Amino acid sequence: MFRHSQLESVKAWLAHPAHAAMPLHARIQRAIRQLILDGAIGSGKALPASRALAASLGVSRDTIESAYAQLHAEGFIERRVGSGSFVAEMTEFTPGHRRSKRDALMRNQAPNLSKRGDATFRSGGVREILMPRPFAPGVPDTRSFPLPLWERLERQVLKETGTLALLHGDPQGAEPLRRAIADYVNLERGARATADRVLVLTSSQQAMTLCANMLLDPGDRIFIEDPAYYGARKAFDAAGLECVPVRVDRQGIMVEPILDDPRHAKAVSLTPSHQFPTGVTLALDRRLALIQWAARNQAWIIEDDYDSEFHYAGKPTACVQGLDPHDRTIYIGTFTKSLFPGLRIGYVILPPPLVKPMTVARTLLDGHTASMAQLVLARFMEGGHFGAHVRAMRGIYAQRLDVLSSLVRKHLSDFVEPRIPIGGLQMPCVLTCDIPERVAVDAARRVGVELLGLSPLHATGGGKAGFLMGFAAYTPAELEVAVRKLANALQSVRMPT
Ligand SMILES: Cc1ncc(COP(=O)(O)O)c(C=O)c1O
Repeated sequence: MFRHSQLESVKAWLAHPAHAAMPLHARIQRAIRQLILDGAIGSGKALPASRALAASLGVSRDTIESAYAQLHAEGFIERRVGSGSFVAEMTEFTPGHRRSKRDALMRNQAPNLSKRGDATFRSGGVREILMPRPFAPGVPDTRSFPLPLWERLERQVLKETGTLALLHGDPQGAEPLRRAIADYVNLERGARATADRVLVLTSSQQAMTLCANMLLDPGDRIFIEDPAYYGARKAFDAAGLECVPVRVDRQGIMVEPILDDPRHAKAVSLTPSHQFPTGVTLALDRRLALIQWAARNQAWIIEDDYDSEFHYAGKPTACVQGLDPHDRTIYIGTFTKSLFPGLRIGYVILPPPLVKPMTVARTLLDGHTASMAQLVLARFMEGGHFGAHVRAMRGIYAQRLDVLSSLVRKHLSDFVEPRIPIGGLQMPCVLTCDIPERVAVDAARRVGVELLGLSPLHATGGGKAGFLMGFAAYTPAELEVAVRKLANALQSVRMPT
């Protein structure tokens, strides 16, 4: 039988308005597939008998049989006559994600891929969890988003542009949005931007892939933080770059290994405002040293400023791009955290000579970002709603961080030490007990709690074991339930002393 949390996930899928057009059996099949992909039902685990699941969900047994048949056809489950249905054997995918044996087989048999294609495929890509549950990291609270206001602005835009908004748009991005972004990063992030230096993209991920392919050749060296954001690492690996990990201490990435390196590296990739995953801020002297290094070596600084809107004590430090008089910095921003991930709008602020080449490159990827979404977002920003939303969410998130850190101290003090961040949507915790990180993450997942282990983010394996706990998308009550579940799960896997 499914556990309560698994059954609730399936029910949430069935009830979600976005899935309303799908036949019932397809919704059930997708919901179970997602549980498997998220690792919530491990390989070899039995699925409920079709009669029992039909009764729990209030649907016919034929509906469940159709869902199971499709899962079987796709290789997600095995069906054994007389004993039931079981999740197919799994192999590791990305942190927090798994893929089926069938996918693994396909990976080994991928026919005639180019070296670049093979590296891309082997990177495993980045798949986000579709229905996040505590403590999936980096997820903003979409339940508090002012949807009626967004809808109203959408109607206004459509009324004013008419069918023009249905045609192709400028590959560099809609001018009103580029203007709004430039004003915002100048004012709030201390950047030096103008609308004609902004390139609107679908995500930071797209920006990193573009940088990797347009600024470096396969085999070129790039310094990355150690530990690093897996999306950046994968984009660089897929482009065939040689990633050179550089240790992060309490002041951010260490600069001596970069300044002293005799071999020429073409770029450094950073999360300076709020290092992922440690949460530290890059010290000013290091920022200035890196800017000098980049200018001297004609190298690039790729600055990922993914969540600095959410800073809970004082103002966040200004971005590196604004300090760089030599125009060697590419600033990457995203609305994934500040608004909602489904929006799929990110951007780069480019040195002037890169604007045309990068814009041409993006035309070969996807032409341009969806025009309607850009125009609505521009209006959202111009009308002051973006600032208001960020301010409101900053208050909510600061309170949730407070709640989570108190809960961790109260219920998890035998297991972990929280590292309270100055900002962002997730809190790192270091394991202080003898439970191996992988065991802790798996035990949590079995009770419906999502943790992102820290070790896989370290290139050199030298980091402290622990995990990230996302708090922004979950109410205090949900945080409390999940912390209690986690405490029980960790207790159950603790080695006897
Ligand atoms: C450090 C970092 N950069 C970038 C992103 C992704 O942003 P986007 O959705 O714009 O690709 C994330 C998302 O989790 C992140 O943690």
